[in-house]
Amino acid sequence: MTQTAAGASGEVPAPSSRRIRTPSSRRIRTLPSRRIGDVPVGAIGLGAMPLSIEGRPDEARAIATIHAALDAGVTLIDTADSYHWHAGETGHNETLVARALARYAGDLSPVLVATKGGRGRPGDGSWTVDGSPAHLRRACEESLKRLGTDAIGLYQLHKPDPAVPYADSLGAIRELLDEGKIRMAGVSNANAGQIRQAREILGDRLVSVQNRFSPSVRAGEPELRLCEELGIAFLPWSPLGGISASSLDGPSSAVEPYPGLAAFHEVARARGVSPQRVCLAWMLALSPVIVPIPGASRPETIRDSAAAGELVLDAAELALLGPA
Ligand SMILES: NC(=O)c1ccc[n+]([C@@H]2O[C@H](COP(=O)([O-])OP(=O)(O)OC[C@H]3O[C@@H](n4cnc5c(N)ncnc54)[C@H](OP(=O)(O)O)[C@@H]3O)[C@@H](O)[C@H]2O)c1
Repeated sequence: MTQTAAGASGEVPAPSSRRIRTPSSRRIRTLPSRRIGDVPVGAIGLGAMPLSIEGRPDEARAIATIHAALDAGVTLIDTADSYHWHAGETGHNETLVARALARYAGDLSPVLVATKGGRGRPGDGSWTVDGSPAHLRRACEESLKRLGTDAIGLYQLHKPDPAVPYADSLGAIRELLDEGKIRMAGVSNANAGQIRQAREILGDRLVSVQNRFSPSVRAGEPELRLCEELGIAFLPWSPLGGISASSLDGPSSAVEPYPGLAAFHEVARARGVSPQRVCLAWMLALSPVIVPIPGASRPETIRDSAAAGELVLDAAELALLGPA
């Protein structure tokens, strides 16, 4: 049977949330859920990149941010071996995530850690790409060690490498699946043709696409619709516009950074919530396969973002915010 991200009918379970008590009496929430392959996840994930790259917080705050996410019902954590700052600290983010999970007092059974391979950071602020099968194999082995697991829940090919045939990179991912080193596979920064190629090579084990998508960057709609057609989860990266210049900040100047920004602020004001929360709720309403992964470097922001899982926008609000 074909595994789908949103169920064969494309339906998502009705929104529901509740508080549960863990053995340690820690109060945690559950969010409405979506699916990545055969795994249910809270409708809002955590993008862990800001915890390890330039401007990262100290480790105590980073771990508090991950714990706040888990307490708020987030069960998908997105990381990558290349989420680090300085040269020689490859895997900083994966190690941090593993440490935070090891110190968490609550139930870890619903948590899906999604990592990526195929990019590097030499330490000068730039990002490199290496999609060669030898690199991907080595990278995956290292990620397994850092995450302290025998099988990575979701392993994503970070970016197509123009110097390597995409089929070769995907072939390496297929081998990792066949060997049981990774349970499910995803691709990132992939266009529609590449997603179809990945589907041909990985079959039902391709469960997610992670592409850039936000109120100001809506060009990914064809890929989003293809994910719906194939029953694959779509994880928008930089859903709030990115860490360096959140496109949802403002509008503080007379010039709107992009058409439509004011609508997010208008709905936010009327609802008494942040425009970021409105943005994430809008994304959830756009498609049942979307699982946003907002970044955060503070507990407050991921708590606020997670609450978007429970914000149901009405038809008039959605019309104001516009289509994908
Ligand atoms: N596959 C790829 O090529 C790729 C590329 C880029 C990113 N990603 C993934 O996507 C994730 C998200 O992207 P991103 O981190 O670049 O950008 P983002 O999610 O668009 O924005 C993150 C920024 O928004 C702020 N923020 C988050 N929630 C907020 C809220 N509720 N209210 C106010 N501010 C809020 C955070 O502030 P604080 O820092 O103050 O908490 C952070 O600075 C990354 O963490 C990474 O996992 C993937």
